[in-house]
Amino acid sequence: MALKNTAENYGTIAKWLHWGTAILFLASYVSVYYRQWFTEEKTPENWTALQLHLSVGVTIAVAVALRIIWRLMNRVPDLEPGSKMEHRAAHAGHYALYAIMIIMPVTGYVGTGVNTEYFFMFDIPKFEDTQLFVSLIKEGMGLSFKEFEAPIDFIHKEILGAWLVWLLILGHAVAALYHQFVKKDRTLAKMTTGK
Ligand code: HEM
Ligand code: HEM
Repeated sequence: MALKNTAENYGTIAKWLHWGTAILFLASYVSVYYRQWFTEEKTPENWTALQLHLSVGVTIAVAVALRIIWRLMNRVPDLEPGSKMEHRAAHAGHYALYAIMIIMPVTGYVGTGVNTEYFFMFDIPKFEDTQLFVSLIKEGMGLSFKEFEAPIDFIHKEILGAWLVWLLILGHAVAALYHQFVKKDRTLAKMTTGK
């Protein structure tokens, strides 16, 4: 198995980053909705679930940074035969997925008023306590953290988290299944067994 991508297949590193990220997205949804639906506020479980959500999100940020570097160092496998429209849609979908892998951790981090206790090993200071917040947002724009946080939270939770992100991932997974079972081409194989 090749480490790098080839014209026919994604390589091992791209596959690990892809499927690892998919598991992390699942974990970020499970932790945040477990917190909202199954825990009472101000209990240890509620805090643990929140901290897991924050830690998983920060990990996604690191993974996407590695992934972008790796993608720039590699060719991308060729798309399977299809119309120009289908290829445009595939590229647009992939770019949109990269966008949410960046935007979700960024809006999550800057809009959160508590430190991230990274998997309970060490603390990552909250944005409000950073020099960037003080010079750019507080002094530069004259906003308090509360004023700054409200629209960012709305984007992270109400627009992206609650709807756009999972719908986009669902569309992506349905497209993969469509290729596998209707078009019967190698799209899913490229990201899995390579056969
Ligand atoms: C790709 C990564 C992420 C995804 C997919 C994601 C997704 C979500 C979703 C679905 C919600 C719940 C929306 C709702 O209320 O309906 C949420 C809430 C939240 N997220 Fe994220 N998030 C990510 C990363 C982060 C990061 C990195 C942080 C902070 C460091 C963060 C902080 C929060 C906070 C504080 C809430 C509110 C929790 C609550 O009200 O229970 N998120 N996120
Ligand atoms: C839910 C299960 C998932 C399945 C079945 C799946 C399947 C696939 C397949 C088959 C490809 C190769 C497409 C091609 O070359 O034409 C692919 C690529 C890709 N997937 Fe997924 N995926 C899943 C989840 C995710 C998630 C959660 C994300 C990120 C949020 C994601 C982001 C991407 C990106 C960005 C590419 C393009 C990679 C590149 O060329 O750099 N996928 N996926």
